[in-house]
Amino acid sequence: MTATSTTTGARIEVRDLTKTFGSFTAVDQLSFQVEPGRITGFLGPNGAGKTTSLRMLLGLIHPTSGSATIDGQNYHDLDHPQSVVGSALEATNFHPGRTGRDHLRVLAAAGGLPDSRVDELLELTGIPAAARKRAGEYSMGMRQRLGLAAALLGDPRVLILDEPSNGLDPEGIRWLRGFLRHLSSEGKTILVSSHLLQEVEATVDDVVIIANGRMVRSGAMSELRGAPSTIVRTSDVQQLAGALRVADVMSSPGTDGELIVETTDKRLVGDVALRAGLPVWELRDRKADLEALFFELTEGTNRNLGDGSSSPHEADAISGQEGANL
Ligand SMILES: Nc1ncnc2c1ncn2[C@@H]1O[C@H](COP(=O)(O)OP(=O)(O)O)[C@@H](O)[C@H]1O
Ligand SMILES: [Mg+2]
Repeated sequence: MTATSTTTGARIEVRDLTKTFGSFTAVDQLSFQVEPGRITGFLGPNGAGKTTSLRMLLGLIHPTSGSATIDGQNYHDLDHPQSVVGSALEATNFHPGRTGRDHLRVLAAAGGLPDSRVDELLELTGIPAAARKRAGEYSMGMRQRLGLAAALLGDPRVLILDEPSNGLDPEGIRWLRGFLRHLSSEGKTILVSSHLLQEVEATVDDVVIIANGRMVRSGAMSELRGAPSTIVRTSDVQQLAGALRVADVMSSPGTDGELIVETTDKRLVGDVALRAGLPVWELRDRKADLEALFFELTEGTNRNLGDGSSSPHEADAISGQEGANL
């Protein structure tokens, strides 16, 4: 879906976004777009720079360089920010003595919205009764739902959620998935961060994967996941590849002497090998394991960036994080 295909949609555009804290670069020349009507996962291990990027997008901190815009504008230049973008950043703290409902009422009043909107959202997020309790007694999952309700108060076109699956049980994660799907089907633009691929892989349409502040991979989930295929081992990989090609089946050599065949039909592969007089030493599904890819990508980037955890930059980062998380 393109940016112009919905009337309600607003695009997020991040360009060469960079943030340094002293000598430490938390976000490094990051560029990506988030399209309306799609759910985009913003993924990376802890410390990758997700929250810092989202804070820049929401005008909470200034980029060192580059830009992050919503609907073509900096957050602070939006005329009616509440109706354009709603957000829930991680570790959102609510006044412990106030009920969830009262918390939302304060926010609604500030945005000129009626109390009825608060009750509507408590219904939608499934916490109408619990929201009458003091927020200090809330579980992490409750806080996530309350944060989501707060983000949606102004019926924004763009929703930015930082680690919304944290603290949700599997049932809660399923609920969130359905809820976000519904919102995106209305044309909303949804950006949701996570440090755990498996929590969002069934939810998102697109992914932006970062590590050490840098882009690692981005694209449609369907492309990144890749088509399922078959792994076969034999005595002569090239000969088998040729025989498969004659049967209209494409293949490519793997990194460990195996042949990766672009089909899930193992019987076909076995038959071709038999006719070619080649032994089959191994024949199995090659699961498109995005989790392995995620791990590999992020670990790979860590390795490329230097000599590991003893770097002075990372020492800066750790002390910085403690300060930032208080
Ligand atoms: N205010 C700050 N001062 C110094 N370093 C910071 C600050 N905020 C974040 N960082 C560092 O920037 C890096 C990225 O942090 P963050 O954006 O929170 O990552 P993520 O959300 O992906 O876990 C981390 O190494 C963190 O310690
Ligand atoms: Mg974070």
